[in-house]
Amino acid sequence: MRLARGEYPVSAGDLVKVDATTHANWLADTRRFWDAGSEFEARYRRICCTPDFAATEDETELRRLWDEETARALPLILRGVPIRPDWTCLEIGSGIGRLLEPMARKCRRVIGIDLSEKMVNWSREYLADVPNAEVLLNDGRSLSCVEDASIDFVFSHLAFQHITLFEVIDDYLAEIARVLKPGGYCRIQNWRDAPKPISESIKDVIRPLLGRGRYRSSRCWIWGEGKQVKFGGVTFHPHA
Ligand SMILES: C[S@@+](CC[C@H](N)C(=O)[O-])C[C@H]1O[C@@H](n2cnc3c(N)ncnc32)[C@H](O)[C@@H]1O
Repeated sequence: MRLARGEYPVSAGDLVKVDATTHANWLADTRRFWDAGSEFEARYRRICCTPDFAATEDETELRRLWDEETARALPLILRGVPIRPDWTCLEIGSGIGRLLEPMARKCRRVIGIDLSEKMVNWSREYLADVPNAEVLLNDGRSLSCVEDASIDFVFSHLAFQHITLFEVIDDYLAEIARVLKPGGYCRIQNWRDAPKPISESIKDVIRPLLGRGRYRSSRCWIWGEGKQVKFGGVTFHPHA
């Protein structure tokens, strides 16, 4: 089925395989959105963007809120995951490397993957003093730069909630199953208010792929009330 611009699938009932042009348009739109104008904007307006963040321009306060949010996120991501110093971990949608930095202290190697070239460049600067962290640019749907059965823990935080093409989620789930070592762990955060069919279908697909109990959603929610995102002519509303 071929989709015109503005006809991206937006509910589970519209699940279809999209063609290469649609994917290319989606990728270009998504990159345009995430290629923020400045690192300040990326850090405080795209990654941490609760009403508290929106209410201040003061960088010291923003940094404090940023650290607070990171301290809150890490235990959610790692709950029930027996991370070890010899592990290799992979984050999908790593942004400017906020979570890669503390994660690198807990394991041997951490890899971040992101579709935004700007985010990748900023994160490489941010992680310049973290020798066991590396960040790679991808096409928004594959982990082709990662070897089969090489990862102990795949995680994604505040990224899947923004993926508006179901095909991309399917592709990632298959890729996660490919790159995880047998018995590896995966945690994908999805937004709390997702329409039930989407979040449930993610779980339904990932559980058989990854094995019982390996999938756990930390279920965070940080979009501000009423915030909208436009991808490919579709207004994507977190509460829709
Ligand atoms: C809100 S930020 C979160 C960054 C990081 N996980 C954190 O919590 O600090 C979302 C990031 O996911 C990336 N992203 C969004 N969709 C993606 C996709 N399909 N594949 C790879 N990266 C994606 C964006 O470029 C952005 O850097």
